[in-house]
Amino acid sequence: MVNILHSLTFDVQQKQVVAVVGPSGSGKSTLLGLLAGLDKPTSGSIFLNGHEITSWSEYQLAHFRRRHIGYIFQAFHLIPTFTALENVALPLELSGEPMAVERAQQLLKSVGLQDRHGHYPAQLSGGEQQRIAVARAFACRPPILLADEPTGNLDSATGQLVIDLLLKLHRDHGSTLVLVTHDPNLAKRTDRIITLHDGAIASDKLIGF
Ligand SMILES: Nc1ncnc2c1ncn2[C@@H]1O[C@H](COP(=O)(O)OP(=O)(O)OP(=O)(O)O)[C@@H](O)[C@H]1O
Ligand SMILES: [Mg+2]
Repeated sequence: MVNILHSLTFDVQQKQVVAVVGPSGSGKSTLLGLLAGLDKPTSGSIFLNGHEITSWSEYQLAHFRRRHIGYIFQAFHLIPTFTALENVALPLELSGEPMAVERAQQLLKSVGLQDRHGHYPAQLSGGEQQRIAVARAFACRPPILLADEPTGNLDSATGQLVIDLLLKLHRDHGSTLVLVTHDPNLAKRTDRIITLHDGAIASDKLIGF
């Protein structure tokens, strides 16, 4: 058995923007997967909005995730057979939102892609696909947003655009944002930088202090 994360204790304030940095293999994606309840720890506790989630069933976790967590992946993970609009509308439809399509249209507008609603992911650039993924992650107004190297597959100018958007939506929605990044310029724009090394916290610094 590989021990990936160990002796890890931290809490994140509501609305805080936290960057998780560290070398490849240090456990950043594993940590984010645990926070989203996509993975289960072999020991320890994880509290989200006051709920201890490690003992929950898959069904409970899926239900909680749908209402509370938005997730953005490095490789976008859009559904290839769905248009941009359908990708953004899907989580809204799953959560029973009556005006799903109208809201998805608004969200596409908020990421500057209202003209692309009928396009499939393969017809969009990487930056455009990630902006769709950002719109999808914010669709259900989740209080918690997790992003695993959201700019990792983008050139620096496009990455900057996606980050501006992410931080703007964070401000508008007041969501807590935890993002994994290799980009020191991006990490500096957050409130706090947690550095992982070999599965443990090597440093935890508030920006500006
Ligand atoms: N499902 C798994 N089973 C066994 N080991 C795993 C699994 N997933 C990840 N690991 C191991 O856990 C360690 C941490 O992986 P993780 O993906 O969290 O790193 P990371 O910090 O996100 O790296 P990168 O910057 O390359 O994305 C690595 O040594 C990896 O090989
Ligand atoms: Mg990773």
